[in-house]
Formats: sequence, structure tokens, C-alpha cells
Amino acid sequence: MVLLKNTVQIEGIRRAGRLASRCLDMVAGRVRPGVTTAKLDGLVGQFLTGHGAKSATLGYREAPADVPFPANSCISVNDEVVHGIPGPRTLRDGDLVKVDVTVVLDGFMGDTARTFLVGAVTEAGSSLARAAEKSLELAIGVVRDGVRLGDIGHAVQSHVEPLGFSVVREFGGHGVGLEMHEPPTVPHHGVPGRGMRVRSGMVFTIEPMINQGARDVELLDDGWTVVTADGSLSAQFEHTLVATGSGAEILTLS
Ligand code: MF3
Ligand code: CO
Ligand code: CO
Repeated sequence: MVLLKNTVQIEGIRRAGRLASRCLDMVAGRVRPGVTTAKLDGLVGQFLTGHGAKSATLGYREAPADVPFPANSCISVNDEVVHGIPGPRTLRDGDLVKVDVTVVLDGFMGDTARTFLVGAVTEAGSSLARAAEKSLELAIGVVRDGVRLGDIGHAVQSHVEPLGFSVVREFGGHGVGLEMHEPPTVPHHGVPGRGMRVRSGMVFTIEPMINQGARDVELLDDGWTVVTADGSLSAQFEHTLVATGSGAEILTLS
């Protein structure tokens, strides 16, 4: 069942989403060569606690692995696509690092992610990150009451594939707000005019995972980290948004 949110709930999600975005602003100022991903995750935890919020990912379980996620944020570097576990890894010049934060504030959730470029990144890396960001922007641009999920996926796919990049299909955006993962799943590929209709009051994420090489992914033995099968780079941006009669409002803005 896809839940439509009322204005009180949307305001709660907006507050959680704004805090998630501010948290990523804080992280942006800390990403540099030499910092560990565990350090960044610790800063995320402190930031959320300091603002009366907490992380939705810490201790989160999901089939099939059912291993509790052990951190405040997902931090995925280079060929890691999503759900990377922060740890002793040190960021190096040229890395592409994706930081994904889901905030719980007063029972409401906001979910957002960005790709950061560490130091000097190759032109290939920065163009991949740019394509992922642009594809999210284009997808948000088609959202309004009555649009179909296939239109959203198509907006992502039709931007990145002509550039030679690929769209990961195993994970999609999702309903969000009262839980971290609610229906529906929002694929980042699709056929215009197909799929469920979006309605005003639907709150969901769009979070395209874009690979430099093939779209295939693999799950590491830690039960969480998803990597590209061919070892190529991956980039991701994510926003939480609400559909309205005239468009979409992004709920994860600072
Ligand atoms: N924030 C992630 C998303 O965009 C979910 C992470 S689940 C976790 O859906 F357990 F890996 F943290
Ligand atoms: Co999400
Ligand atoms: Co997320």
C-alpha cells in the first residue's frame, strides 16, 4: 500500500530531510585525502545526536542478509555502488565517495546522498558524477501528480545511457517518511507511460546509481557492500521528494 502523506507528515519529513542535507553539507567540508570513512561516519553520528535526531541505518536489517547495518551512514568509495560500511579505509586523492544519510527526527525520515570528489578526480570520474547528478535533476523534473514511474526511470536512463554509462537495476528509489523503506520501488530505468501512477502526497526518493562500465553488481561477503561487477566507478545522488499537482518539492534541501 502506497501511503499518501498529509501536510503535518510532510512538514515532519521536510524537517528530517533538511537536517539530512545539512549533515551532508557538514560532511562535504570534511571530505579530503587522509580522512577515514569511519571518521566521517562518527561526525555524522555526532551531528545527528547534536540536533536531536538519529540515524535510521544504524542497526537496520533487511532480507536476504539480515545482518544489522553497523553505521550512521553508508559510505561507498569508487567501485562500491551503495551500502558501503564506514571503516578504517582512508580516502585518497582521486576517490569518488558516496555518502548516504537517512535521518530520523521526531519519528519522520529524510534520505539523501551525494557523490563527493576527493582532491583531483579524473575527467572520467567527474563526468560520471555530473551525469548521475543531472539524471536525478531530470527525473525530479518529470514528477507531478499523474506521472508514471516509467517516466521517472526513463528520464534517468535516457540521460546517462547515451553518454556510455549504465543504470543499476537491482536497487531503486523508494517510498519514505514513516519508515526508511516504504512502497513503491522507483526504478531508475523504464518505459514512458508505463508503471504505477504517482499521486500528490506521495513521498519517495529518487537515487540513481550510475556505473561507468556495465550495470551488473555484486554483493560482498559483509552482507551489505554492493560493488560493480567489472570494477568500474559508480556515482549516486539521492533526494527525498513529495509529488504535488504542479511538480515535485525536494524535501532534502538545506
Ligand atoms: N539510505 C539508503 C537508501 O537510500 C538505505 C541504506 S540501508 C542500510 O535506501 F542499511 F544500508 F543503511
Ligand atoms: Co534511499
Ligand atoms: Co539513502
